[in-house]
Amino acid sequence: MMQGSEAISAELINGMKQAMRRLAASVVVATARDGDTRYAMAASACTSLSMDPPSILICVNKSASIYPILNHGKDFCINVLSGSHEAISAACSGGQKGEGRFAIGDWRDDPDTNVPYLRDAQASLVCSVDDIHHYGTHGIFIGKVKRVHLHGDVYPLVYIDGRYSSVIEAAKASA
Ligand SMILES: Cc1cc2nc3c(=O)[nH]c(=O)nc-3n(C[C@H](O)[C@H](O)[C@H](O)COP(=O)(O)O)c2cc1C
Repeated sequence: MMQGSEAISAELINGMKQAMRRLAASVVVATARDGDTRYAMAASACTSLSMDPPSILICVNKSASIYPILNHGKDFCINVLSGSHEAISAACSGGQKGEGRFAIGDWRDDPDTNVPYLRDAQASLVCSVDDIHHYGTHGIFIGKVKRVHLHGDVYPLVYIDGRYSSVIEAAKASA
């Protein structure tokens, strides 16, 4: 299995980057807490895994500040952003650091786990870390879903071709 040590051509890397620009992805913010310290990271490498058990996975670069927290098995939350949350995604992808990432947005604490969640995210899925796979530069965290908060209509923030866009629920668009 390749673990990132073999030489990779610049042409292949560039081809993959261009391919990924064509893969529309919903944007989430993963959050976690370690004592009084809160963590948040914008991510698009997040997907549903299964309904039995209800589970979701997210791929996190080992260099990200939230990585060691997840790697220690702390509960986390996947906040599925809405089309109005572009500034929150920007803050949580490097625009702000640490606690500064929570300066914008209506952040609350999940009553059971204390993990921060975004009150007006389209959906917030509170998870426990059930499994971790390491691959190259990333950790793949499998979360068992413990609680779901829903808010508002289906209106996802989408990242495509290196910029933000949004998708209005098809039924509403045609109404
Ligand atoms: C739209 C978007 C999607 C991203 N998706 C991921 C992802 O899936 N996994 C990841 O590790 N980083 C992803 N990033 C990058 C991180 O958000 C960014 O590197 C962040 O600053 C890392 O956290 P840190 O600053 O706390 O280290 C994404 C960034 C953006 C703007």
